[in-house]
Amino acid sequence: MNKPPSITPSIEAERSAHPGELFDDRGNLDIDRLRADFPLLARKVHGKPLVYLDNAATTQKPLPVIETLDRYYRMHNANIHRGIHAVAEEATEAFETARKRVAAFINSPSERSVIFTSGTTESINLVARSWGGANLKPGDEVLISHMEHHSNIVPWQLICAQTGASLRVIPIDDHGQLVLDSLDDLLTERTRLLAITQMSNALGTINPVSSLIKRAHAAGAKVLIDAAQSVPHLGVDVQDLDCDFLAFSGHKVFGPTGIGVLYGREALLESMPPFLGGGEMIKQVRLDGSEFNDPPYRFEAGTPNIAGAIGLGAAIDYVQSLGPERIAQREAALLAWGTEALGSVPGLRLIGTAAQKAAVLSFVLDFAHPLDAGMILDRQGIAVRTGHHCAQPVMDRFKIPATVRASLAVYNTEREIDSLVQGLEKVRDLS
Ligand code: ALA
Repeated sequence: MNKPPSITPSIEAERSAHPGELFDDRGNLDIDRLRADFPLLARKVHGKPLVYLDNAATTQKPLPVIETLDRYYRMHNANIHRGIHAVAEEATEAFETARKRVAAFINSPSERSVIFTSGTTESINLVARSWGGANLKPGDEVLISHMEHHSNIVPWQLICAQTGASLRVIPIDDHGQLVLDSLDDLLTERTRLLAITQMSNALGTINPVSSLIKRAHAAGAKVLIDAAQSVPHLGVDVQDLDCDFLAFSGHKVFGPTGIGVLYGREALLESMPPFLGGGEMIKQVRLDGSEFNDPPYRFEAGTPNIAGAIGLGAAIDYVQSLGPERIAQREAALLAWGTEALGSVPGLRLIGTAAQKAAVLSFVLDFAHPLDAGMILDRQGIAVRTGHHCAQPVMDRFKIPATVRASLAVYNTEREIDSLVQGLEKVRDLS
């Protein structure tokens, strides 16, 4: 990967510890020092130490991100790309440095391919409305999978309804893995786009996206990767993947909420019409018509989430210093621990047992409804998500209404997973 540029020194916050120093030579993590970077992890809930296992919903924020946001608003807040005054220039430089940092993080060939959005959902809607609206027609097909988040289903349903294209779906098996044999029938010359998650938020399944991208391209289709869950756990390299679009959110990778990224192949972005109209996305506006700006600005109408982008830059700096590979290794150890520990709970069934999976332990209990289990766990300070996880088709596939989902991050511990197991015994006692 390219070396990331540094955030404007005046805006970059001081760190409490350099995360790169948190691993020793043998790769062992100093977990107490790491956790000290995340203030919220030290709080109590219902009088009990918080056990935060809801990281697929959102991650907690490290001090460098919190301090960067604080410093930005205290010292550098101004609108960008417009002002000639000093503070506006500082804000603009920090915002554009964050874009370069994102580009380096995902190994984009150019920062012009990096569009700031409000999150994965907006990124996918942008592609559906702009690219889909201009390219789909009756007879065309968009291919998704049965394990997609609603944000990678509904935008395609909407644009298919508008354009007359059809939506087709790759099925999943009882482990929550794609049924790849079905691709021979599903991926054809009618397929214009494959839109697929790299990692399922409800099951933890990691999909073989590299080979899927090759197969889709061979069929003449474009590919959008929903990387909302994979970026925090696996890291991504858009050149290695050779995807056409990739979407992710800042808040799942230790950054602020309300900021996300759409990566798009530059030539494709240049061919696409605007998504929203307004300031910044134009070169010239006349009352009888307007000339649009070049990407990425063509797709960033209005004042963007400046602080969010700069905060995301700080989060990426944090992840880079920690090392995406070391994060993945640490989380794999936690997942193995959690899979074994939960396997010892009588009456618990894991939903999502793919050979390739990461950081998500979704399960049902034969002694309690997921919602009741979640509420009893909460009283013990244990935060999990219960429900359909914005993936109702996954619940339908497994014929269940909901699951309990414990989702892990690098700062979680084996002891916290053991607390979850003990918490489930309490659920059993009270059920
Ligand atoms: N998509 C997020 C989750 O899986 C909100 O919880």
